[in-house]
Amino acid sequence: MQKRRLAESLEVSALGLGCMGMSEFYGARDDAESLRVLHRAVDLGIDFFDTADMYGPHHNEELLGRFLRERRPQAAVATKFGIVRKPGAYARTIDNSPDYARRCCEASLRRLGVERIDLFYVHRIDRNRPIEEVMAALADLVCEGKIGHVGLCEVTAATLRRACTVHPVAALQTEYSLWTREVEAGILPACRELGVGFVAYSPLGRGFLTGAIDSRAALADGDFRAQLPRFSDDSMAVNRSIVEAVKALAQRMNRTPAQIALAWLLAKGHDIVPIPGTKRVRYLEENAAAVATPLPAEELEALNAAVRGMVVAGARYTQEGMKGVNA
Ligand SMILES: NC(=O)c1ccc[n+]([C@@H]2O[C@H](COP(=O)([O-])OP(=O)(O)OC[C@H]3O[C@@H](n4cnc5c(N)ncnc54)[C@H](OP(=O)(O)O)[C@@H]3O)[C@@H](O)[C@H]2O)c1
Repeated sequence: MQKRRLAESLEVSALGLGCMGMSEFYGARDDAESLRVLHRAVDLGIDFFDTADMYGPHHNEELLGRFLRERRPQAAVATKFGIVRKPGAYARTIDNSPDYARRCCEASLRRLGVERIDLFYVHRIDRNRPIEEVMAALADLVCEGKIGHVGLCEVTAATLRRACTVHPVAALQTEYSLWTREVEAGILPACRELGVGFVAYSPLGRGFLTGAIDSRAALADGDFRAQLPRFSDDSMAVNRSIVEAVKALAQRMNRTPAQIALAWLLAKGHDIVPIPGTKRVRYLEENAAAVATPLPAEELEALNAAVRGMVVAGARYTQEGMKGVNA
């Protein structure tokens, strides 16, 4: 698998693996199959694994810990802190305090069974706490060898700029895909100017861009997506036009829609590392194959032309969730 450089000292496979869905959010978990996915990913050359303390809590990090016991030398692990889960479906608050960051880091190290977290992200920004204070606390963890690099999620260019004055930010992780392109306007140029790598989460539009989800009824009880405005039946009826464009190209190129969505993103720049999530070996293999088969420039342009001007209906998070992004 080709490599991409997020930061000077952080080179990872061009495609990472998002592990969130192995624990919750997108239907039932199956640990045995998820472990097969993790091991197969390494065999395919994927060496960048994305988790967070709040996934499952804390099932996802523990699952990765089981895998890392055997494959640590072949795997860079990225985890996150800052979202505090509350009782009730997906309820949460944000805590970026230095003391909380340290406690989370130490707990993640224990669950993952590693001596150092390769990339430690602030999952959501606490708007009431200066980012400089948070970065100073994370810089201490770097100095102590507990984390290798610092990352941020879903921040504005202004916050990123301020953060970089305290300590280098190795990567910004934010949603980016064919139907979520806001980062192209301000964030991506800022990352490039500041030398910050970009990790694209939900690159398959949480599964929607693959064409596998065509109605809310297709989602299992308790599936996180059912509460997102973008996944209401009315929104999906509008958003289907993007999927149709992806499917048309997939058919013409003899690929799958997921491979087209990933190839489009991979072509956006060598500083971008998409982290598609799956808990199935079949999907993993399909997604990994997208790296070896870039889209020809004229096909990319045809796809861009097809989706240009298309409206995306529905916010990507609930009203409450939107308060946590662009912070
Ligand atoms: N920083 C943040 O705030 C944040 C937020 C969300 C996600 N993330 C990270 O980003 C990772 C990826 O994002 P995501 O999981 O939300 O969304 P995604 O990668 O866009 O899509 C995942 C969904 O697509 C399905 N899928 C995967 N490959 C497929 C294929 N080839 N054909 C058909 N369906 C396919 C998966 O199904 P199965 O589940 O059935 O395999 C799952 O339902 C997460 O795992 C997590 O690590 C970070």
